[in-house]
Amino acid sequence: MLIDAHSRVVDYLRVSVTERCNFRCLYCMPDKPLSWVPHSEILRYEELFLFIKAAIDCGIKKVRITGGEPTVRGNLDAFIKMIADYAPQVDLAMTTNGFLLNDLAESLKNAGLKRVNISLDSLKREVAGRIANRDVLERVLLGIDKALAVGLKTKINSVPMKGINDGEICDILGWCKERGVSVRFIEYMDNARANKRLRGMRSDEILREIASRYEYEEIGRDPKSPSRLFALNDGYVFGLIEPHREEFCASCNRARLTAQGLLAPCLYFDEASSVKDRIKRGDIEGAIDIFRQVLANKREKNRFGEKATDRAFYETGG
Ligand code: 5AD
Ligand code: SF4
Repeated sequence: MLIDAHSRVVDYLRVSVTERCNFRCLYCMPDKPLSWVPHSEILRYEELFLFIKAAIDCGIKKVRITGGEPTVRGNLDAFIKMIADYAPQVDLAMTTNGFLLNDLAESLKNAGLKRVNISLDSLKREVAGRIANRDVLERVLLGIDKALAVGLKTKINSVPMKGINDGEICDILGWCKERGVSVRFIEYMDNARANKRLRGMRSDEILREIASRYEYEEIGRDPKSPSRLFALNDGYVFGLIEPHREEFCASCNRARLTAQGLLAPCLYFDEASSVKDRIKRGDIEGAIDIFRQVLANKREKNRFGEKATDRAFYETGG
């Protein structure tokens, strides 16, 4: 079992397979980085898998593939299959912008992927295009439909931003409800690479907006994610992810492995240790020792307001 410095069991590993992305979201990487990390710096799938395998042997029960945008890395289905074949019981999920899902969802599902979280910040072509800095909406919507059609368990992530998509919260909720897909509204998290003028909405503002059209009641927390859950009176469930709230970190059960082989205990702090050399040398036990050390040093809480990290979310894996 993997346990952190604050007695939290860590059974959830997020693995970023690439820093690259086909979108340029305002809240993530609006200015294309000057240079991408060269492929030679990125761990090969076989190398990532060696670490994941050992982490599963130590008690990891859920693995989420992230990026950047994971689907822009080739042969993702083969990587998924390595993990699924080794440990079919593992809850294997992916976070994606959905743009390539219309083409890839079926092969990913066949490879053993169980769940996807797909971003949907606007249902208006122009607004979605402004957020991602690409004309993306039509293909994202096709991607969501495809994920549902092939039987991937699907959730939607949506980040409300003042003056951009704040008027669409109820529309997005309604759209997801019609399809029977649960939506999580995520408070915008300030970070070093985001557009500096962005203003996010706090959860009380998001709830006030929802209350203008729907009646809801709070039904508790999601045991498997940091969401607070709410139900409309017809039973439809939606969630709020509130990293700014005091209790947010109490149930944190996760650690992150980046495409460059950095192990990061938290999205918000610079602390991270590289396991790349160990993995490249085949010293997986040594890599797991570093993993245990990283968890032993894990901080108790993110601290918004303090200068946290310059590492971009697309590097650490969102
Ligand atoms: N604040 C809140 N959510 C973010 N995401 C990415 N960057 C941010 C941010 N700065 C969300 C996206 C996507 C997932 C990868 O993380 O909505 O669903
Ligand atoms: Fe790409 Fe996701 Fe970042 Fe948007 S939030 S730029 S889709 S990695």
